[in-house]
Amino acid sequence: MGAVRGGDARLVLLGAPGVGKGTQAAEITRRVGLLHISTGELLRSAIRAGEPLGRQVAAIVERGDLVPDALIGDVMEERLSRPDAADGFMLDGFPRTVAQADLLDGILAKRGQGLDRVISIEVAEPEILDRLTGRRSCGQCGAVFHVRYNRPRAEGICDRCGGPLRQRSDDTERVIAERLRAYREQTAPLILRYQRAGLLLAVDGRGRPAEVFERIAAAVPGLRG
Ligand code: AP5
Repeated sequence: MGAVRGGDARLVLLGAPGVGKGTQAAEITRRVGLLHISTGELLRSAIRAGEPLGRQVAAIVERGDLVPDALIGDVMEERLSRPDAADGFMLDGFPRTVAQADLLDGILAKRGQGLDRVISIEVAEPEILDRLTGRRSCGQCGAVFHVRYNRPRAEGICDRCGGPLRQRSDDTERVIAERLRAYREQTAPLILRYQRAGLLLAVDGRGRPAEVFERIAAAVPGLRG
């Protein structure tokens, strides 16, 4: 695998819930301006806005199940067809099933493009539970904090936009267990698929976010900006 050009790379961030996909994506975007597309964030914003899509998926997300492939497929076909995604993007939370990976291959093939890297971030489940139960997210801008590992300057208030911080409704132990089950059963098989395709970069997700970023950047030149 050669170097990628940070600003117009096509990357996938793979990994169980809470391994730090969103945290690393935010850092990569800050450094090289790569477009960050999070399917979870697209769904949550549709739920917040009371859009038809949001009403269709709210209960599914709330229980920690995966939204049906056909629905996510429509969302991503539309999102990836926008001009800002023409050259580069970083997908966070998609693909999550074999059918979604096939769909992504099809979209890219039509454009004469392919993926540059699939970065699989790996963290053990007890640590995932600790990260997710302590996560706090901004209700306005989506910035992510943690009650111990990434504390906001003022408790309960977003450093970036001053919005209120809250706990995601799917960050309870019961729902996290469901999300981890969905990951093991439906998403983890993609690791082998991308390994066979020569695209996989497995990264140890332990340690501080800056250390994890350094591991990614060491293996994917072009992301330091
Ligand atoms: P989604 O929003 O994609 O959730 P997820 O995959 O469960 O991932 P998270 O956002 O929970 O975690 P993350 O890896 O981004 O971790 P973060 O950086 O925040 O999906 C939500 C739901 O939407 C799904 O359950 C499903 O229902 C639906 N959905 C979404 N996409 C779908 C799809 N393609 N198909 C079907 N359904 C779909 O970090 C977590 C915490 O840890 C934070 O507090 C952070 O500050 C902290 N942290 C991060 N890095 C570190 C570190 N190195 N050390 C210590 N703490 C850290």
